[in-house]
Amino acid sequence: MSVMLQEVNDDNMTSKNKLLSRQLLDWYDAHARVLPWRAKPGETADPYRVWMSEIMLQQTTVATVGRYFLAFTSRWPSVADLARAELDDVLREWAGLGYYARARNLHACAKAVVADHGGRFPDTEQELLSLPGVGPYTAAAIAAIAFDRSAAAVDGNVERVISRLSAIETPLPGAKTEIRARTLELVPAQRPGDFAQALMDLGATLCIPKRPNCLICPWMTACRARELGVAEALPVKAPKKQRPVRNARIFWAERADGAVLMRRREEKGLLGGMLEFPSSGWATGKEKADLAPPYASGWVTTKKQIEHTFTHFHLVLDLQQTDEVFDDLPAHDGDWRWVARHQLATEALPTAMKKVAVAMLGSDVFRRV
Ligand code: ADE
Repeated sequence: MSVMLQEVNDDNMTSKNKLLSRQLLDWYDAHARVLPWRAKPGETADPYRVWMSEIMLQQTTVATVGRYFLAFTSRWPSVADLARAELDDVLREWAGLGYYARARNLHACAKAVVADHGGRFPDTEQELLSLPGVGPYTAAAIAAIAFDRSAAAVDGNVERVISRLSAIETPLPGAKTEIRARTLELVPAQRPGDFAQALMDLGATLCIPKRPNCLICPWMTACRARELGVAEALPVKAPKKQRPVRNARIFWAERADGAVLMRRREEKGLLGGMLEFPSSGWATGKEKADLAPPYASGWVTTKKQIEHTFTHFHLVLDLQQTDEVFDDLPAHDGDWRWVARHQLATEALPTAMKKVAVAMLGSDVFRRV
């Protein structure tokens, strides 16, 4: 069935599109990045490793993912091993990669593959989409890379490459459907998985946001944006809405040995399950009232402020401290803990909290030894 569909797809390709996909594959054969999860020429892709890398690469850079990928796959070499793991061990190994919800989904997905699919990843986009933590991009990426399906895996890098190739000037996110359709037209019947990875590599190495390296691009002559001199201006992004500003206080509390008080956020909601320094709550008028400080004490401002922009609001934090040092964890409800300073670098802290730690302790706090 899939073979017939692929043949139809190939027949439907215009000769121009065939040439484009061949040019990109030739470039990939010469310049593919060597990545720990990537099958080498002649090797067969392992769906478990493909899936693991795609989950880790969601919102995390290739450079960071490398050592986590190696740690996970050496500790749990197969999806069945991961399904049998304790969730706490998975979360601990994940620390530093951000968003624990993704680690929980990773574990839930491994269990689902074992329980519902006999320990083998399903090989269609549709079935992959039903797995925990697998959205449209990830389903397409796994279908293409692990199973050589003709799927369009369109992430931010690919959006940039395709909008330039075809000089699509419609602003994002409105242009997404058009970009996806254009990408699908280019997916070759042969080697769709390599094609998907080639697009990712082109976007990551040559067709970069600023000063793209057009002179050595395999699509140099075909690229409409280059011809029109607008490559760097694409993709166009719709203007960002003005975000509401939220103000809050951070209560920086220390134990005698220098450990800092933190608490784990609730699983649901923004930064679910991640550690934070206690704060008065990031409230706007209508939301929950200020949370009390962790201890009744003489809190004073450090005159340090940090700012961080989230999708829906801009946060301004006034950092406060007290002369007192503490011993017991606060009596208030919450998942509290003392975190030693040297341990801050190994915890998965949201960026806003990293900024707080740097403001209080200096940038060395995140330098690993
Ligand atoms: N970015 C997202 N997925 C990727 C992959 N499989 N290879 C390289 N970069 C990626």
